[in-house]
Amino acid sequence: MKKYNVAIVGIRGAVGQCMLEILQERNFPVGELRVMSSNPDECPVYHFQGREIKATKLAHDAFKGIDIGLFSPGASISKEFVPHAVKDGCVVIDNTSQFRMDPDVPLVVPEVNPEDIKSHKGIIANPNCSTIQMVVALKPLHDYAPIKRVVVSTYQSVSGAGAPAIAELEKQTADRSFPPDKFQYPIAFNVIPHIDVPQDNFYTKEEVKMVQETCKIMKDDNVKVTATCVRVPVLKAHSESVNIETTKKITREKALELLSQAPGVTVIDDLSQNKYPVPLDAEGKDDTFVGRIREDETIDNGLNLWIVADNLRKGAALNAIQIAEELIKQDAA
Ligand SMILES: NC(=O)c1ccc[n+]([C@@H]2O[C@H](COP(=O)([O-])OP(=O)(O)OC[C@H]3O[C@@H](n4cnc5c(N)ncnc54)[C@H](OP(=O)(O)O)[C@@H]3O)[C@@H](O)[C@H]2O)c1
Repeated sequence: MKKYNVAIVGIRGAVGQCMLEILQERNFPVGELRVMSSNPDECPVYHFQGREIKATKLAHDAFKGIDIGLFSPGASISKEFVPHAVKDGCVVIDNTSQFRMDPDVPLVVPEVNPEDIKSHKGIIANPNCSTIQMVVALKPLHDYAPIKRVVVSTYQSVSGAGAPAIAELEKQTADRSFPPDKFQYPIAFNVIPHIDVPQDNFYTKEEVKMVQETCKIMKDDNVKVTATCVRVPVLKAHSESVNIETTKKITREKALELLSQAPGVTVIDDLSQNKYPVPLDAEGKDDTFVGRIREDETIDNGLNLWIVADNLRKGAALNAIQIAEELIKQDAA
């Protein structure tokens, strides 16, 4: 089997660490693995497929001989370094927001739009974590009855804000006087309706990402999305309350049937038995979990759903590696 030289950029980050784990778990056909850091001297020695790997410094000329670059160092770093990697023949799968809405860059969730991968010109963008899990669940419903409108409220875990944010929740939970740094208010014992920077229209950038990215991935500007994104004191896995209005009726039974057959979806839906997805159960899992499926009794063609997925896995690292697997399958690496 052909092997591919792979680079992980942002190795000490929450997503970078998860990428290393998942490459190993899925037995990805890695030839050389380069892990790149802003500060390799502070990195431990990593272990991968029985090898010891030392981190190297992220640099413009660090990508010679690399086939696939898995980037998660933050948007400004990707902006600077991705073009150099592409120039050296590397296909970059970028987790940051830097290239997602660029019309020349496919924005891909493999369960939804794998066909977009082959149009890449060196960069494939990984969507925002909240968007990924929502479109995985909405796609089979949209294919059956096109969705007109989505109203989503998110309950996002702190790991969505990176490794330091996980530490902040842990410290604050043990010591309530620990001051906020990654968040606007203490996150322990609290919820904060503010993720990413404010926009002129009084939404946050996280909310705007959900609106724009959903239409791009589903290739349908008729899907109107309105979002409220909220940070909650959960370590890993984002939850979403999603209300949709469709162009024709989807009964609860039909939704259960469609979602049970959908790739990457697990339905957990038996309220009388306390069965519905919760973040603690989704942590460390690959699927997107859907439950609390109800017909919206206030409109003719509406459904309510509760959608939960591990944001570091399906929301970031796993989706990126699934894109890489699809890239290889389509012989587009
Ligand atoms: N967390 C999620 O659920 C999630 C989901 C989807 C997308 N994303 C996106 O993925 C990216 C990383 O998120 P994260 O949660 O992993 O954040 P994080 O834990 O804060 O890690 C970010 C990493 O970026 C690297 N970095 C920062 N400055 C750098 C520099 N000057 N040069 C090289 N590397 C630098 C660092 O890696 P080194 O320590 O190795 O230098 C750092 O550990 C962000 O753009 C985020 O929006 C995150």
